[in-house]
Amino acid sequence: MNTIECIKSRRSIRAYKPDAVSRDLITSIIEAASFSPSWKNTQVTRYFVIDDPALKEKIADECCSSNHNGGIIKQAPVLVVTAMVKSRSGYERDGSFSTPKEKGWQMFDAGVAAQSFCLAAYENGLGTLIMGIYDEEKLNAILNIPDNLEIASLIALGYAAEEPAAPKRKTTDELISFI
Ligand SMILES: Cc1cc2nc3c(=O)[nH]c(=O)nc-3n(C[C@H](O)[C@H](O)[C@H](O)COP(=O)(O)O)c2cc1C
Repeated sequence: MNTIECIKSRRSIRAYKPDAVSRDLITSIIEAASFSPSWKNTQVTRYFVIDDPALKEKIADECCSSNHNGGIIKQAPVLVVTAMVKSRSGYERDGSFSTPKEKGWQMFDAGVAAQSFCLAAYENGLGTLIMGIYDEEKLNAILNIPDNLEIASLIALGYAAEEPAAPKRKTTDELISFI
């Protein structure tokens, strides 16, 4: 699959087969994502991989029960919680912000890494869903996330049990201003 085809045909997957995903494959996908660009190559994105069904169910019930993400997490064989090392991306060595975007760059880096993760997963025959709606406080407590990290997103991972059509995209005329 070439890069453009991979970018365009990847879809958010909300229905998964029960088949397990090997830890070796998950590791190779994260290794690919580690080549993502990041602020001054700070590489602040971290990955908590949850393949234990009981823990996944607990997260679904306690952190995502108020929306449809809970059901998706229960179904997907793997849940990846991405987190960012705080106070590095977008910061100077003295702890001050490098730009007016302040701590915005760490989410930028985590987003770039998440897209790389999803594309690498797709290239390997796997589906993904990035999720932004969850109870972060409860998730921090359940996973015992260290104080120096901040959760960025959840990503469901597994073999797709659906082939959704691409949601409509804006036209390039709407997106681009050539100046
Ligand atoms: C930052 C972010 C957060 C998202 N959060 C959710 C979510 O909580 N639940 C969900 O079902 N989809 C979520 N999505 C998936 C989007 O709805 C999806 O990417 C969009 O509709 C385009 O569809 P496609 O990914 O198939 O191209 C999220 C996507 C991103 C990038």
